[in-house]
Amino acid sequence: MAQSNGGENLFRAICNATADAEDHDHITPTSKALMQAVHLDGYIKSLDEVKAVDVPRPNFESYLALLKQNQRPVPKEPLVHVQITHTAINHVDLLYAHGVHQNNKSGLFVPPFTLGLEFSGVVLQVHAVNGQKPTFKPGDKVWGGSVGTHAEEIIVPASAIHHLPNPTWSLHDIAAIGAGTLPVSYGALTTIAGLSAGEVILVHAAAGGLGVYAVQIARALGAKVIGTVGSQHKAAVVESLLRDPNTGKIPAGEGVVNYSKGGWENEVLALCKQIGKDGVDVVYDTVGLVQKSIRCTTFNGRIVVAGFAGRTGTGAEKVQALEQLAVNRILLKQIKLLGYRYGETNRRMPQETVKMWRGLNEMLIHEPRLVHPVVYKTYKGLSHINEGMQALRHREVYGKAVIEVCTEELALKQAQQFNNQQQASAVSKL
Ligand SMILES: NC(=O)c1ccc[n+]([C@@H]2O[C@H](COP(=O)([O-])OP(=O)(O)OC[C@H]3O[C@@H](n4cnc5c(N)ncnc54)[C@H](OP(=O)(O)O)[C@@H]3O)[C@@H](O)[C@H]2O)c1
Repeated sequence: MAQSNGGENLFRAICNATADAEDHDHITPTSKALMQAVHLDGYIKSLDEVKAVDVPRPNFESYLALLKQNQRPVPKEPLVHVQITHTAINHVDLLYAHGVHQNNKSGLFVPPFTLGLEFSGVVLQVHAVNGQKPTFKPGDKVWGGSVGTHAEEIIVPASAIHHLPNPTWSLHDIAAIGAGTLPVSYGALTTIAGLSAGEVILVHAAAGGLGVYAVQIARALGAKVIGTVGSQHKAAVVESLLRDPNTGKIPAGEGVVNYSKGGWENEVLALCKQIGKDGVDVVYDTVGLVQKSIRCTTFNGRIVVAGFAGRTGTGAEKVQALEQLAVNRILLKQIKLLGYRYGETNRRMPQETVKMWRGLNEMLIHEPRLVHPVVYKTYKGLSHINEGMQALRHREVYGKAVIEVCTEELALKQAQQFNNQQQASAVSKL
C-alpha cells in the first residue's frame, strides 16, 4: 500500500468560513464544487481548532495540476477517485495536527493538508496513467491508507487501496481494522518479529489501536499473548479477546497486566512461569517501555520498537523523555532490538509492503473469528471529528473510533450518478 504522493495538498481550503458539517446521511451532489474535509492550513495549538470545513472537491485534473505546482512526482500508476464512507481516527492524526510527527519534521507532510490516514468507501471514477488502467471500477468497495481521509472524497494512486478481503466484510468493519492500523501490527509481528506458533508475546497498550489488532494477529498465528493496559476498562477489552469461547477462561500463560502499577514486570514473569517459561519471546512496544520489557524477556528474545505513545503523548505535550538504555542488558540476554516504521518501509521498499499485504489478506479471509473489528464508538458525520480526537487524546478510546461519513447505500448511489454523468458527457461528445 502506498501513501498518496502529495494529494493531501489538493484539499487546500479556499474559503475561511467554517460551514456546518453536512449530515452524514447526505452526500455532496455531483454538481457541487465544494465538499467537507478536516483541513488544516497550519499546525494546531489546541484540538478545538480541528473541525470539518468546505474545501474544493477533488478531480483528476486539479489533482495532477497541484502535484505539478508543488513539484511533487506525478504517480506512475492509475489514480482512483473514491467516495469515503468511513474513516478511522488514528493516533498519528493527533501528531500530524500538532506537527510533531517525524514526517512533519522531515517535510514529508506539512500544511496545508487534510487530516486522516485510513478509510473505506466506494470507487467513483478511475483515471489511467501512462496507459495503465487500475483493477478497480466505479461502484467497487475499497479500503485504503493515504493522508487526507477525513473528507467526503479522495483521489489516491491505485496502490493505496485494496478490494475488501471478501464480501462478508462491511465498509464500516474494514475501516475499523484500518488500513493504517492492522497492517502495521501485522508487519511488526510477522516480517519484523517473525512471531511463530507456541511463542509468547508481550503486547504493550494492548487495548490501543495497534495493540488490539496485535493481540488478534498473535492469536491467529498461534502465539500466546500477555497484554498490558493502563486502566480497568481497557483490561476488560483485552481479556475478552483472550477468553476461550468454549470455557470462558483465559488460557494458562496469557493474561492482562496493568502497567500503571509499579512492579508489573513481575506479573508478566508470573504468567510466563505458569507455562514453564522464564520470559516472553517477543515484545511489541508502541509505548516506550524497552528497559522494563528487557526484564520480561527470555534469553535471545526480540523486542519490536514501533512507537512511543507513553513518552511523546498525543502531540499537545511531551509526557516523558525518550528512554536511554543500559545496553549491557541487551548483551546479557542477547536481545534483538528491532525498529519498525510501516510507512517508511513502504516508501523505501514497496515490494515488501505488497508481500506483507498478501499474507494479511489471507489472514482476513481465513481467520474471521480471530481478526475482527474492535470499535470504541462510531460517530455519525465528520462534524464529530473533534469529539473522537478528544477521546483518543484522553486515552478513553479502545480499539478504533470510526466516523461514518456517509452510508454505503448513498456512496453506491453517488457512484451511479458519476457513471451516468460520464456516459452523458461521452454521448454529447459524439
Ligand atoms: N511504527 C509505525 O509504523 C507506527 C505506525 C502507526 C502508529 N505508530 C505509533 O504507535 C503508537 C501507538 O499507536 P496507536 O495507533 O496504537 O495509538 P492509540 O490507539 O492511541 O493507542 C495508544 C495506547 O497507548 C497507551 N498510552 C500510554 N501512554 C499514553 C499517553 N500518554 N497518551 C496516549 N496513549 C498512551 C494508551 O493505552 P493505555 O491507556 O491502556 O495505557 C493508548 O490506548 C503511537 O506512538 C503511534 O505514533 C507507529
